[in-house]
Amino acid sequence: MSTVDPQRRVVSGMRPTGPVHLGHYHGVLKNWVKLQHEYDCFFFVADWHALTTGYASPEDIASSTWEMVVDWLAAGVNPGASHMFIQSRVPEQAELHLLLSMITPLAWLERAPAYKEFIESNREQDKASYGVLGYPLLQSADVLAYRAGLVPVGADQTPHVELAREIARRFNHLYGSEEDFAANAEAAIRKLGKKTGKLYTELRLAHTRHGDTDALATAQALIREQNKLTLSDKERLLGYLEGDSVAILPEPQHVLAEQAAKMPGLDGRKMSNTHDNIIPLRAEPETVEKALRNMPTDPNRVRLADPGTPEACAVWQFHQVYTEGAELIEVHDKCSSAGWGCIECKQCVADKIIAQQAPIRQRGRDFEENIDLVHSIIAEGTERARDAARATLEEVRDAMGLAYR
Ligand code: TRP
Ligand code: SF4
Repeated sequence: MSTVDPQRRVVSGMRPTGPVHLGHYHGVLKNWVKLQHEYDCFFFVADWHALTTGYASPEDIASSTWEMVVDWLAAGVNPGASHMFIQSRVPEQAELHLLLSMITPLAWLERAPAYKEFIESNREQDKASYGVLGYPLLQSADVLAYRAGLVPVGADQTPHVELAREIARRFNHLYGSEEDFAANAEAAIRKLGKKTGKLYTELRLAHTRHGDTDALATAQALIREQNKLTLSDKERLLGYLEGDSVAILPEPQHVLAEQAAKMPGLDGRKMSNTHDNIIPLRAEPETVEKALRNMPTDPNRVRLADPGTPEACAVWQFHQVYTEGAELIEVHDKCSSAGWGCIECKQCVADKIIAQQAPIRQRGRDFEENIDLVHSIIAEGTERARDAARATLEEVRDAMGLAYR
């Protein structure tokens, strides 16, 4: 059984519906790479989610999945620091989706912005399948199956994480906290051993009786470093520090990328595979240069001598992601004073993209040549994911009356 504090656990997924592009990279992937060194991370290919809209062309799933995993590895997601797996290989997640569907009010799903948009943009009624309506519930199950504390996502996904929170709250409200919580917590204290157990109790009382927050922090650190305790016991002891109950499904929070700089697409809209305006993460240099050359610029800057308005140009938005400090100010000046041409301005940012992509492309090639390694990374990650999901499902089945003989 895993012994990680769930509030230190991170879960996130990506749909294999096309190449990983710079929008994914700046919006989510870079954040994964950073978080993996600070948290217990689970990252998965959301292949079930790809089927919600792509059910008619399942033949692309396999290749998109493996390319996506290579993209992650190329970007620096490290199998030594995180667990990577494939959603459909963890049937416990589907079971949780089913069980949670029983307690999810239809209205919660119908008001999801992504669902509303889908209904409005797809006139054909039959496209709006049950899977599309249930998409955010499946996503909630993805997160809750691992009792994640944090979910790094792009800004468009925060309503889905909020739904996961509401569902966790409803579940905990319906099925309550563990019976005999205090007794189980006391039993867990005994497992700490005499000395540590006594220290824990002293710190706990210092907090509960005297409001000593330093004692609380010390006690939390003490519990987190106990690597012989089970996950459930750790949770009990952490919960016991602050109250007399523990949630069966902890409520997750979303995390947005620090540099929330929106990576625009080549047409200035959000970069997205559905808009056909992407630069793939591992694009060849020529592809990057060509894509930049074809980008529209400030429509009022017709001649080289015309001063431009950077704010009216998507290339400027690219600079905001790739160019820093004084140089960024210079780019702005050179545009608005007609100090350089658009071709030069574009080449400048293309060079930066290409330079940043060079090591990523190289790592991607290395993993592509070693696809067996990629498969075994996923097999290993899937094992760890199943261990964690199994433990949760045991408690969920029990709470929902299904652990009977
Ligand atoms: N819906 C997410 C997206 O389109 C992908 C996803 C599926 C996800 N399950 C998740 C993200 C769980 C975070 C957590 O980007
Ligand atoms: Fe856009 Fe650069 Fe041309 Fe200005 S100089 S309009 S920012 S491409």
